[in-house]
Amino acid sequence: EKGGYPSFMLKEIADQPKAVADTLLGRIGGEEGELRLDEVRIAPSVLREVDKVVVIACGTAFHAGMIAKYAIEHWTRLPCETELASEFRYRDPILDQRTLVIAISQSGETMDTLMALRHAREQGAKVLAICNTNGSTIPRESDAVLYTHAGPEVAVASTKAFLTQLVACYLVALYLGQVRGTKWADEIRTVVRQLSEVAGSVQRVLETMEPVRELARSLADQDTVLFLGRHVGYPVALEGALKLKELAYMHAEGFAAGELKHGPIALIEDGLPVVVVVPSPQGRSVLHDKMVSNIQEIRARGARTIVIAEEGDETVVPYADHLILIPATPTLLQPLVATVPLQVFACELATARGNEVDQPRNLAKSVTVE
Ligand code: F6R
Repeated sequence: EKGGYPSFMLKEIADQPKAVADTLLGRIGGEEGELRLDEVRIAPSVLREVDKVVVIACGTAFHAGMIAKYAIEHWTRLPCETELASEFRYRDPILDQRTLVIAISQSGETMDTLMALRHAREQGAKVLAICNTNGSTIPRESDAVLYTHAGPEVAVASTKAFLTQLVACYLVALYLGQVRGTKWADEIRTVVRQLSEVAGSVQRVLETMEPVRELARSLADQDTVLFLGRHVGYPVALEGALKLKELAYMHAEGFAAGELKHGPIALIEDGLPVVVVVPSPQGRSVLHDKMVSNIQEIRARGARTIVIAEEGDETVVPYADHLILIPATPTLLQPLVATVPLQVFACELATARGNEVDQPRNLAKSVTVE
């Protein structure tokens, strides 16, 4: 049931710290930060032979897959492509026994993803499913499965399933790195420890959402909201825009910030709300600095800037009309915390517009037709 919340969506947003912790449970914290993914029954010897990873998924799960690409390439140095399941087969993709395909699906019944995975298996690729529904079709037809432990997701718009998909993607990326013995062994141990701290950060974000709700209500009459991100912040921007489209029925678009000057900047006009996901200032300062210039560029053209940045990041303060602070988190893991304010924002804005958030118009929880 809704556990006292007005909607399943609000309950599921609030469930996220537990969902994240449950998905990590029993899989990390072995000896010296080793990962144990016993249920991934693809032999380590097979995983060591993999020479390419392809991630397939739809919608929100596709955004998790986009983030997986950064993590997999960084921690394994294997080339990785992420592709919309609905486009995959038609491209005649190059797959063989040394390709690992990762199919991500909350429901495990999405027809586009199922057809893509069947195609991959016909070509001899090994398929690992990341799925939230025990015994559903996608894991049954895969070589192995890593279940997300989000619990049942009832609201049509995906929230807690997305966060747990991210956790599962990080686990797979780190596990592949571990099995293949890349030179990142020390980093892998550190990240495993950092992952175990993220549930607490998600909880802290949830406790500071009142100003975000207030801001969302004040934007109920807007026609358009844009979202900008770079690196792993780009899929977060796409996810923020998707949530707003499906719940608030508003025109919302996510862009890679570097693309701004290649077209989208022409959309900026006085008072247009633009949500900007700012990378961590630590470590990858080039990314961070570029994002700060992007905020200055859009603000100079009249945008109303809604900036999601890490606590203690003073550099963005002068350019933020609204500042949403999130706990400092390592760059690759930041989507786990940066996405949460965007979920709250979309849910509150939709409610302010009088929409029913659990059952948005025209949408179904599981899309079983192609
Ligand atoms: C968006 C949303 C959809 C699903 C997509 C894939 O909030 O829920 O975009 O993510 O239909 O569904 P699954 O993960 O069940 O394959």
